[in-house]
Formats: sequence, structure tokens, C-alpha cells
Amino acid sequence: MQEKFQTKNNLTKEESYSLLLSQIDSLLNVKDKLISNLANLSAAIMQTFPKFNWVGFYLRDNNYLHLGPFQGKVACAKIEIGKGVCGTSAIKEETILVPNVYEFPGHIFCDSESKSEIVVPIIINRSVWGVLDIDSPEFNTFDETDKKYLEEIVEKLKPIIINYELFSNSEKMASAKI
Ligand code: SME
Repeated sequence: MQEKFQTKNNLTKEESYSLLLSQIDSLLNVKDKLISNLANLSAAIMQTFPKFNWVGFYLRDNNYLHLGPFQGKVACAKIEIGKGVCGTSAIKEETILVPNVYEFPGHIFCDSESKSEIVVPIIINRSVWGVLDIDSPEFNTFDETDKKYLEEIVEKLKPIIINYELFSNSEKMASAKI
């Protein structure tokens, strides 16, 4: 798998995202565990953009977002919906671009090196299932191009999540009948 996933230097941001998107369909596999798909997706984004210092998922359970698979330094284990950039993205159900984390009221510092951030909500069946969170050690890293492509990446992830939820629910129902 490692050899199959390619990154190239000296590409524009658009070209890097296009290369990443072209490989996501073979990277994500509905037959694998959801946790494995999320782990590989966070690694693929980190490998494509070595300047990012944190890429990962927070998964929602009721009023909290819980730390999921990620690449980067140790991070906050849970974030209340409505708090920080992640919780704000979850409550607003929209992508949030933060050019300067010091100017975002209530920003939660996990890695002191992070200076800018983007959070994309993952909305399934009209409710927030989780968020994709990415940090950069430079100010003004993220723009509308990142928003567009990262939202596309999240769209590609959604069928994997939906399939997993359907499968685990039907398994739960089957074991309840035994
Ligand atoms: N900065 C985020 C917290 C998560 S870390 O960046 C990994 C926030 O304010 O929600």
C-alpha cells in the first residue's frame, strides 16, 4: 500500500490535492474497518502536505467530539460541541478557516506550534458525525482551495462511514436477536 500511494514534490496546491483525490478511491476500502480508513486518510493528507503539523478526525458522541485517528502530536481527547474551532465548525455545520489561531476566540491549543487551522464538518443524515481538523505551523496556510478540496475528500469518505454505520447497526440487531 505504501508504494501505491504517491506524493510528488514541486506541485501546486491544486495539483497536490488532485493527485491525492485521484488516489483516495483506492486508498479507502469499504471492506476495511472505519478506524483503518480514517487512519490511512489522515496519513495520506499528512504525506501529501508535509508542512501540515496535525491532521486528524474528531468523532461526535452526543455533546462531545472525541479524538479519533490522527497524525501529529498528542491532542485534546475531547472537545465540547460549540467550543474551539472544531466545536464551532460542528455547531455551525460549516467549514471554518482560521488564518491566525491567536485571533480565534476560544481556540483550543493542542500543539503550541500550530498557527493556522481548517476544520471541515462531516455531516451524515443532516447531523454532525465528526470533523476533519488540520493545523499548520505557519499563519494563513489555508484558503478557499483547501476548503474546496477537503470538502471533496470528506464527501468521498461519507459512503464509507454510512456503510460502516449500517453494517454495525445490522450486526447489533442480529446479535440482539440471538
Ligand atoms: N485547535 C482545535 C483543537 C484540536 S487541535 O488543533 C488538534 C480547536 O480549537 O478546536
